[in-house]
Order: sequence, then structure tokens, then C-alpha cells
Amino acid sequence: MNRKYRKTVIAGNWKMNMTASEIKPFIEQLKENMPKTRACDVVLCTPAVMIPAMIKAGKEVKVAAGGQDVSKYEKGAYTGEVSATQLADIGTKYCIVGHSERRQYHHEDDMLVNAKARALLEKGIAPIICVGESLEQREAGVTMEYVAYQVKAALNGIDATQLRRCIIAYEPIWAIGTGKTATAEQAQEVCEGIRAVIRKIYGARPARAVSILYGGSMNAKNAAELLAQPDIDGGLIGGASLKPVDFATIIAASNQ
Ligand code: 13P
Repeated sequence: MNRKYRKTVIAGNWKMNMTASEIKPFIEQLKENMPKTRACDVVLCTPAVMIPAMIKAGKEVKVAAGGQDVSKYEKGAYTGEVSATQLADIGTKYCIVGHSERRQYHHEDDMLVNAKARALLEKGIAPIICVGESLEQREAGVTMEYVAYQVKAALNGIDATQLRRCIIAYEPIWAIGTGKTATAEQAQEVCEGIRAVIRKIYGARPARAVSILYGGSMNAKNAAELLAQPDIDGGLIGGASLKPVDFATIIAASNQ
């Protein structure tokens, strides 16, 4: 983390878990375990139908609500999709795009991820843009080339002013839901590389100001070490964000 230049963000990705009625008790437990003061923004990304409940319950503890996906289209005949306008209208502040699960199960490519990020920015929602390599790519030694490409493609056409709202999440696919975390060194190396890519496109100042998160089996035990790395500005947390005590511990770890 480097609080002098950028925000620390602890974001939970609930994926397709929990229900709207479980939010209030979750937030109450989170509140009981949360540190008195905190130096990070906290976000919980839920399925779209649960966002209003999260906004309502999260207000008191300053937990913002985020979505997990958005349509690239503004409106129209796209059954089942949710637009950035609709997310913004209910008060959504953040939204994940390009999660590896969407890339894998819904065949989302880098151009689509870019279009979704731009759709969100148009409506004032901060995109949390996910990138990350597969195990095969890591073993083949092409991690940085691949992630650099994903970052460049996702940011295509996004200007420096819009970049200020963007958050990048580095999530190595092999670390997601596997209990196999990247080492702090591995995570730092790629996050530093991502910042270098952004520096090349936008220059030193904008690159210094972008928050880059790590995601992939981050938990109450390993969060402090990961967050101590200079280019890791927070976490995108799956499993551990479903447990209020663990999530509160991760929030506390960002106070270091
Ligand atoms: P886990 O923390 O469960 O590995 O999930 C990470 C993730 O995919 C967050 O988006």
C-alpha cells in the first residue's frame, strides 16, 4: 500500500452466494468486529438484485455496494442483462468487470471487458477490472506479457481523468478459490508490472494514483503480508468475504 498516493480498497466478491435477507445480520456482525478506525474503502459486490439491500444496510458502517457484472449496452432488447444506467440509478458505486469466472464461463474477451468498463465510467461507476494468468501461462513464463496485454486492452480508449476512477484487480486464476495464494513476492511483482504498464500509457502521476488490488485466496491470515507490499493497494476477496469476522480482520489488516 502507499496511502500517500492512492486509496486502499478492501472489496468482497460474494459471487452467487448469500441472499438479500442475509445482508443485515452479516453487516451487524461485521460492525461488531470492525476496527474502530479504518484507513480503507470497503465494498461488497453482490448479485445485482441484492444491491439495494446492501446499500441500505451498508450505509451505517460505510460499506459501499458493488455489482459483479454489467452489460456493455446502454439499453434495449438484451434479456437478462443489467445496464450501467440501471446500476447507477439504484446507487451502485463500484462494479467488477472481467472476472476470470465471466471470462471462462461466459467467454468474455478483453474487448468486451473494455466495453463494459467504459459503460460503467460513462455512468460514474468505478470499474474493478480483473486480470490474471492461468497456471499454464505462469508455468510457461508468460504471466507479465499476458497480464500487460489484458490491462492495455481493458483500458483502451479510457482517458486519464476516467482512469482515476478505475481499480485494477490482479487475480491469478490458479489462486482463485483454491486456497493457493500467490506469495507476497509473486503478487507484488505482477502488481508492480501492472503499474509500469499504466505508467507507459498515462505517465507517472496517473499510474501512481491507481489502486491495484490482489485477489485469490486472500484471507484473515495472509492479508497483512500481501497488503504490506508497496504496489498492492487492497484486496478482492471471495470466500473470506462471506465470513464477517474474517472480512473484518482483513479490513483491520489494511490499517497497518
Ligand atoms: P477467493 O478469495 O475465494 O479465492 O476468490 C477470489 C476472487 O475471485 C475474488 O474476485
